[in-house]
Amino acid sequence: MSSLTITRPDDWHLHLRDDAQLESVVPFTARQFARAIVMPNLKPPVTTVALARAYRERIVRATPPRYTFEPLLTLYLTDTTSAAEVQSARASGFIAGVKLYPAGATTHSDAGVTSIDKVFPALAAMEECGMVLQVHGEVTESDVDVFDREKVFIDRVLRKITEKFPRLKVVFEHVTTREAVQFVMSSRAGVAATITPQHLLLNRNAIFQGGIRPHNYCLPVLKREHDREALIDAATSEDVRFFLGTDSAPHAKGAKETACGCAGIFSAHAAIELYAESFERAGRLDRLQAFASERGADFYGLPRNRTKITLVRDAWTPPLSYPFGDSEIVPFRAGEPVAWRMIEEQRA
Ligand code: DOR
Ligand code: ZN
Repeated sequence: MSSLTITRPDDWHLHLRDDAQLESVVPFTARQFARAIVMPNLKPPVTTVALARAYRERIVRATPPRYTFEPLLTLYLTDTTSAAEVQSARASGFIAGVKLYPAGATTHSDAGVTSIDKVFPALAAMEECGMVLQVHGEVTESDVDVFDREKVFIDRVLRKITEKFPRLKVVFEHVTTREAVQFVMSSRAGVAATITPQHLLLNRNAIFQGGIRPHNYCLPVLKREHDREALIDAATSEDVRFFLGTDSAPHAKGAKETACGCAGIFSAHAAIELYAESFERAGRLDRLQAFASERGADFYGLPRNRTKITLVRDAWTPPLSYPFGDSEIVPFRAGEPVAWRMIEEQRA
């Protein structure tokens, strides 16, 4: 196959940052995706509807007018998020969920949830009004091995949430392990997961290939090959609970190439092409549209997009860096070929 036309995809998990950095990265996503859920881990975090509305306006202003792109927001859950804030987020029409970061789990998560019972009132309100909970699924205890933090989270936290709130819609974000895939597959209806391109394409060897590779470091960290294979099987299966969320997470080059580098992989410049590559390797390009353009919209109760994009099997090489505010970012696959290329075309 040398070309593939699919319904325009949506990115159900994205980091856009703010100000000049936002302006640098939003065009990459707006070019490929019709909608994206923009994560709230700014400094300070997006904890209220008012902050989300203002952030949304900054995103819209930073979007080149040639693109029709709808940013969807998510509220940053804290120990003190009120039921009233949840209800007003639900009523806003542009807030697609509430994001649970265990305090200390990742970039700008220090204001996150310190103990799950503290947020039971907020979760009850979400269940009541149909608001989706998006979960960064890792425990933060320092005695738990970094590579086990996701599977320990399932047993210590996530199972409790899905059982205590049986009607709450939950997205287990950026799943990375076979155990997470199995958890979602064996869960009740209303539990779904996003999968990133890096977790479909790489295993943890990529962090140490010939030396330490900070640009392959993200959280949850890349796992073993047998985990990657489980993710591929899930993404390319007919199971509607697995859908696209890039977790594209830009950090300035200097913040990654340093003694204590930030977690995050920037993939927005080639997101749909990277997914196409992984689906092609699995012999399942026929399932790309369902994963990228249908299941997420269906889960969130939003209409599927009506416009299309076309991918051609024409390799291109991302540059070694892109401008990023007053700095630069090193993109995924910098200087190495990507097998597919999206053709820019008119939107309806
Ligand atoms: O690698 C990551 N980067 N994982 C996260 O959970 C956060 C993200 C970021 O914001 O940089
Ligand atoms: Zn993320």
